[in-house]
Amino acid sequence: MAKVLIIGAGGVGRVVAHKCAQVPEVFSEIMLASRTKSKCDSIAQSIKNRTIQTAQVDAENVPELVALIKSFKPELLINVALPYQDLFIMDACLETGVNYLDTANYEPKDEAKFEYSWQWAYHDKFKEKGLTAILGCGFDPGQSQIYTAYLAKHYFDEIHYLDIVDCNGGDHGKAFATNFNPEINIREITQNGKYWKDGAWVETKPHEIMRRLTYPNIGVRDSYLMYHEELESLVKNFPTLKQARFWMTFGQEYLTHLRVIQNIGMASIEPILYKGVEIVPLQFLKETLPNPDSLGENYSGETSIGCRIKGIKNGKEKTAYIWNNCSHQAAYDETGAQGVSYTTGVPAMVGALMFLTGKWQGPGVFNVEEFNPDPFMDVIGKYGLPWEVKEDIDLEL
Ligand SMILES: NC(=O)c1ccc[n+]([C@@H]2O[C@H](COP(=O)([O-])OP(=O)(O)OC[C@H]3O[C@@H](n4cnc5c(N)ncnc54)[C@H](OP(=O)(O)O)[C@@H]3O)[C@@H](O)[C@H]2O)c1
Repeated sequence: MAKVLIIGAGGVGRVVAHKCAQVPEVFSEIMLASRTKSKCDSIAQSIKNRTIQTAQVDAENVPELVALIKSFKPELLINVALPYQDLFIMDACLETGVNYLDTANYEPKDEAKFEYSWQWAYHDKFKEKGLTAILGCGFDPGQSQIYTAYLAKHYFDEIHYLDIVDCNGGDHGKAFATNFNPEINIREITQNGKYWKDGAWVETKPHEIMRRLTYPNIGVRDSYLMYHEELESLVKNFPTLKQARFWMTFGQEYLTHLRVIQNIGMASIEPILYKGVEIVPLQFLKETLPNPDSLGENYSGETSIGCRIKGIKNGKEKTAYIWNNCSHQAAYDETGAQGVSYTTGVPAMVGALMFLTGKWQGPGVFNVEEFNPDPFMDVIGKYGLPWEVKEDIDLEL
């Protein structure tokens, strides 16, 4: 029985609130706080049979966060606001003695770049206070690392080649929309690609490397090599990896829109003066694009995210593919959010459950693959994201 404070009332916050509410024996009291309280209230109203508290908070204001945490006294804070707020929220957790979990690593607003160094630097501070911080517990980052740890533990003696494959085979009927916060999403996918090869990072131009990969129940999709944050922790925690890559599917229509957005300067994060007011083009663009929250109602199709691994078992080369497929419509019917928010929010709730039931603990800052994957894998299907494994198949990579 524990109190949990969720920060961020977007698509992911909606799913985390719904899923925590479904497990009252663990999450006995829930508070959802965000910049716009009316969004928290609307999510709270959509949760049947359970009352959750709501509050307004600016998560970039540490004293405000501290006051809220002191008044509610949670055991764990689940941060599903934006990556910009991670360090402010971690500071507030340290000041109030509260454990922490998030789904995306810290990014400074003025630099489109993600890396764990800023949050790993908090390890000793959390350790000294006897607190736990769990980083990146969504799907990718998150479940992708837990999948890797699970296969490494049960299917291989050593893992050598890892490909994380992320396909959204869904159709929301809009000409161009992003599936989570447009600003964060466009910053991520317009970066240079990067992958791990023989002990060093190899950089590529954005979308320079493409493979046509087959996804279960979806079919063949153009999949582009991208840099993704969990690669950084995975190559550190699995030093036997000779190669680690991340692939995401994009349609031609999507890429054409993206190219135009970049070419006309709308993806820029450099402030410009517009009629005497300083604006950031990408932040302005976010306001004109469909709100990811609004995509759910008519979203058809599925997401399919998994890990394709090659390594050795009993002296022989071996392959395995582990994945989950998630239906946008089923996610919407259950929580009012589309599949991308759902596949992020469910692992966040289950990670919180792992911590609060004593299965994942320890003082310090941890990436999810550092914990025992078994108790997570035992229950994640029951909470909405069942998984499958195929062994000794052609990985196409
Ligand atoms: N690991 C994964 O697989 C994965 C996948 C997708 C997303 N994510 C991460 O999940 C997080 C949430 O994504 P989302 O799609 O739900 O985004 P979203 O819909 O934009 O929601 C973000 C929420 O945070 C709130 N917020 C922003 N700044 C705030 C501040 N200073 N103080 C308090 N609240 C603030 C926003 O408030 P307003 O409503 O007032 O704008 C909004 O409600 C992001 O960090 C994203 O990177 C992770």
